[in-house]
Order: sequence, then structure tokens, then C-alpha cells
Amino acid sequence: MTDAGRRVPQDGAHRGECPASVFARRSFLQGTVAAGVAGAVGLLDDGAIVDTVGDRNARTGVIPFHGYYQAGIATPPQPIGTFASFDVTAAGRDELTDLFRTLTARARFLTGGGTPPKPSPDSASPDNGILGASVVPDDLTVTVGLGAGLFDDRYGLGARKPAQLITMTPFLHDDLNPALSQGDLLIQLCAGHRDTLVHAMLDILAHTGGAMKLRWHIDGQRNPPRPVGTPRDWFGFKDGISNPDTTNAIKMNQEVWVQPGTTEPAWSAGGTYQVLRLVHFDIEKWQRVPVAQQERIFGRRKASGAPMYAVSDDAPDSLDPIYTNDPQGLITPLDSHVRLANPQTPETAATSSILRRSYDYNRTVNERDGLDLGHLFCCFQRELDTYIAMQTRLEGEALVPYISPRGGGYFFALPGVRDPQDYYARGLLA
Ligand code: HEM
Repeated sequence: MTDAGRRVPQDGAHRGECPASVFARRSFLQGTVAAGVAGAVGLLDDGAIVDTVGDRNARTGVIPFHGYYQAGIATPPQPIGTFASFDVTAAGRDELTDLFRTLTARARFLTGGGTPPKPSPDSASPDNGILGASVVPDDLTVTVGLGAGLFDDRYGLGARKPAQLITMTPFLHDDLNPALSQGDLLIQLCAGHRDTLVHAMLDILAHTGGAMKLRWHIDGQRNPPRPVGTPRDWFGFKDGISNPDTTNAIKMNQEVWVQPGTTEPAWSAGGTYQVLRLVHFDIEKWQRVPVAQQERIFGRRKASGAPMYAVSDDAPDSLDPIYTNDPQGLITPLDSHVRLANPQTPETAATSSILRRSYDYNRTVNERDGLDLGHLFCCFQRELDTYIAMQTRLEGEALVPYISPRGGGYFFALPGVRDPQDYYARGLLA
């Protein structure tokens, strides 16, 4: 995170004192355009587009589908998620366009909810019935991304590929399973309940069967806050604390959304690079590590989630880490997760902020094959290179013996579907 998104240390922090009281609270409304413009589109002085994500309707549980950006990125994470990667099998550009039109129509209906058409007496029902007679929106978001494979010579899209989109190659400690990696098209579904996602997934499969084939999929959840604040992952640490402020449109333009008038193709403005990593946890090994050491591995306190300088179990997790008084890593080790992810140095300032929106998975089948619990790491950033630089730094982290990255991929999450006439990837295919 850049300084603009951090709470600022007040007098005293640089003298080596790090009590909670020396930090001011994070400012959520920085710059001239912020939370108050939810759902509105405008232009900044430099021509950058400002559009925060449409507000959820608390009465209906509808998260708006239409917008300059897709929902499911800056949207506060819903408790349940499914990530499904597909190989596209459409026969040519026309069929590909039909696929995106169909996907759009299904996503528009599923996220808005309503009553599906009644079947004629001699035909199968158009809806699978999992949600009853009427489809409830349940905070569903459908977020579509493209893999580098879609830009090969099948559809003549090579010249329009997002500039940094590549196929994910293994990092130093990766053990990537091809059956859980890559894909031409990614659909991220998030909602309040699992049945909503199964309903949506079956609906999408039923309508798009001939044009794309499921390659891999993984279900995840976000745990409830224990006891308050940010949810914990399976390692027991609060995960997702330091993240860009998604209500700050200026920061989102700087760090997450691809901007018009850059080296990126014009159609891609309003999209963002999405990274997925399926990271298996060696839970049994982790549970044998003393808590004090676990904290040094992550660089945060386990009970409170606060940075290492805060010793009270009641310290707020919203405090920011600070390393200016700790160049040798005596408080927060130099090889700890947070310190390598964001070392807070001038050299790493440009590659230290991504929007994390991860889920936790449990794919344990039986005890013989061992526990398969892990992290469905998901992040969004304006430049894929930011993620790659950060992940490369993490190759040296103290967490390495306890995790094993087994799959995932790089995708380009499309710009939003702007209105009822628009459809996914229209700008790309036009
Ligand atoms: C094995 C999976 C991972 C786990 C269990 C994990 C867990 C955590 C935890 C507990 C924190 C501290 C609390 C917080 O700020 O959220 C954290 C911070 C962070 N993680 Fe991860 N993480 C994982 C993978 C990654 C990956 C792959 C990246 C990026 C390449 C990453 C980037 C970050 C960043 C940027 C921060 C905030 C650093 C800061 O500004 O202080 N994490 N992570």
C-alpha cells in the first residue's frame, strides 16, 4: 500500500516508541472523489474515469450488475465463492460473441433475480429449481476474466491482448497441477449462500455447454470474524487487513483499474488483472509451531491481528505495520510475510499494493490422502507486473515450508457491462 492509504505515524513513532496511540486512524476519504459518488461516473482533471461500484440494495440483496466496472472486485467480499476456469470451444468469432452474449444474459438475470419462464408441459424446466420457484439475488456477483490462451490464433484476437497478460509460469516453490491451472475464461461467483452459487453455476453450464468446457473449479468461503474485524484463514491469522481502500476512486484508479490512454488496448479500460493461486497449507506442520514463531513468520500478532509492535491481545488489527525504526527486523523479521509483501522501501513502493480478495478452501477427501486445506488467493491489480514482483520477493519468505502453491492462473477481468444493450467483452470483439 502506498503512503496515501496508510495511517500516518504521529510524533513519537520515529523515536522507537510504537504504542497504538501514536497512529492516527486510517482516512477513508482521501482525494477529491471518494465514497460519496457510489454508482456515479465522472472524469478527473487528467481524464481518468471515476466510478465507484454500485451500492448493494439491502432490501433486495441485489448488487448492481451494470456499471463501468464489474461487480465482485471492489465489492466487499461475500461469504461464499466459487472460481471456475473454462476452455473455450466456440467454433469461431461469431460463436465466441454468442457465448459472451449468453453469459451476459444469464449473469444479468441471476444477479437481479426473478421468476424464470414457466416450462411448457412437455419440456424440461428452464431453471434447475434449486432456489425454488423464484430466483433470489442473494448478493450474487458474476465476474468474468480472460486467460492469455483466448488470444491465441483461434479467434484472431492476438493484437488486442492486454499488454501484460501471460500464462502463469511456476515460481520457485510452486508445484503446479495442470488440472488445477490456467484456462481461457474464468468465472468468479460470489454470494451469501452456497446454494445460490450451485444454482448459478448449473444455470451457466446449461446455457453455454457447446461453447466452453469446465477445466477446473474450486469452492471457497470466508470465515466469520473471530471475534471481530477481519476474518481468519486456516492458519488462524486475520487475513485481508492491509488492502487499498476500495471506496477511494483515486487510489483504485492508481492501483486496480486499467486506465484509458495508456499502453493497454482501449477496450480494456475499466478492467483489471486478476491472479488466482491455490495454495495448499501443511496444517499439521503449522500446528506444531509455537505461536510466537508463527507471529514472526507472518509479521503480525495472531490473537489481535495487530502489527508486531502491539503486544496487547486487544490491540486493533487496523494499525499499520511500520519498519522505519526496525531496519534489522528485530521487531518484524525481514523475511516475514508482510515485510516481504510490502517492505515499505522506496525501491518497492511501486510493487507493494494489490487488492486482495481471497477465500479459504477445504478439499479434504479422506484421511489417507491427508488434509487438503488451503487458501484460494485472489488479487486484482492494474499491472500484472506488480503481483509478479511481489510474489518473487515472497519466494524468500519464512512461510515457504508451510505452504505449497498447486494451481491457479492469470486472467484479465473484463470492464463492466455498462447497460442493458452491452455485453461482456463487446469492446474486445467489436
Ligand atoms: C499462502 C497464502 C497466504 C496467506 C495465508 C496469507 C496471509 C496473510 C496475512 C495473515 C497477512 C497479514 C494481515 C493482512 O494484512 O491481511 C497478509 C498480508 C499480506 N499479504 Fe498475504 N497471504 C498469502 C499469500 C499472499 C500472496 C501470494 C501475496 C502476493 C503475492 C500476498 C500479499 C500480501 C500483502 C500485500 C499483504 C499486506 C502487507 C502489508 O501491506 O502490510 N499474500 N497475508
